Amino acid sequence: MQVSDIKKIACIGAGTIGASWASYFLWKGYPVAVQDVTEEALERAKKLIDSNLNFLLGKGLLTEAVLDKANKSVNYHTNIGEAVKDVQFIQESAFENYDVKKALFKDIDEFAPQAIFASSSSGLLISEIQKSSRFPERCIIAHPFNPPHLIPLVELVRGKATSEETLTVAYDFYKAIGKMPVRVNKEVPGHIANRIAMAYWRECIDLVMNGVCTVEDVDLASCYGPGPRYALMGPHLIYHLGGGPGGVKDFINHLGPSVEMWWEDMATWKKFPEGCREVLEKGVLDELAGKTPEELAAWRDEKLVKLLGDLDRLK
Ligand SMILES: NC(=O)c1ccc[n+]([C@@H]2O[C@H](COP(=O)([O-])OP(=O)(O)OC[C@H]3O[C@@H](n4cnc5c(N)ncnc54)[C@H](O)[C@@H]3O)[C@@H](O)[C@H]2O)c1
Repeated sequence: MQVSDIKKIACIGAGTIGASWASYFLWKGYPVAVQDVTEEALERAKKLIDSNLNFLLGKGLLTEAVLDKANKSVNYHTNIGEAVKDVQFIQESAFENYDVKKALFKDIDEFAPQAIFASSSSGLLISEIQKSSRFPERCIIAHPFNPPHLIPLVELVRGKATSEETLTVAYDFYKAIGKMPVRVNKEVPGHIANRIAMAYWRECIDLVMNGVCTVEDVDLASCYGPGPRYALMGPHLIYHLGGGPGGVKDFINHLGPSVEMWWEDMATWKKFPEGCREVLEKGVLDELAGKTPEELAAWRDEKLVKLLGDLDRLK
């Protein structure tokens, strides 16, 4: 298969991530079949997709013509056979559960045996999921970052039986539609970005639980300090600059002993500490000061579009 063979996409599971993926594919001009198990779920998905597309229209990122085409080329199904029968690419975003994802293969094997099956799974192993398919070579993890209609990253993970062709086509496809795919060369829980994010969050929680700072101050320290730099470049380039003319090697030579001392003192726990749920909830409510999560998400999307636009990462 080649990227040009992909003419239509199915989004299986249309919750937070599935509806956002569907919005993205429609924005990029593909007809999309959206599938979920109940009419209510589809109704919710339709509202989300309409709202996402209208947001993009309002930002000048898509035209009235594209919106019109999207409205005409999106279909909603509870029947999976109907949804996948004429697609070449399937983006699966159903519940994060082996039984659910494996069961989906039975129908997909029957109705779309040749389509690439890309699972959005954040933490499951594709080597395990693909065992239930008669065509495991076409199965891959394509893990987005929320919300996938705005955040460019897609982590691609091959399972033991995934073919090189599937990886290449998926990589080229996401790249062609403006995503930033990265290859994960080994299956590890959490792929790349969530492992980094959770190591970071563990230390943030630990700082709060140890009374070093409040929830709000650790959030401020993040987004006014490392945050803006991370939007521009990753840690290796950051510390390469931090090392001066000698680069990353000099950074380690110079600051390495201090960093090792910090590491010595930092959190390594594997279970959320007792009482942290309550402390974090109170801290977040204080920080929100009455703002609702919906208002916060709307503000986030507004700013994300500006930031990604400036960085030339919304294509
Ligand atoms: N939420 C995130 O931040 C995030 C980020 C990246 C990836 N993911 C991954 O995306 C997937 C979906 O997560 P979500 O947050 O959108 O969950 P969600 O609960 O919002 O949506 C899941 C949807 O799947 C539907 N569903 C359940 N069983 C189904 C089936 N058999 N067939 C079709 N649809 C079915 C549910 O009705 C629901 O609408 C998970 O694998 C998750 O790991 C989530």
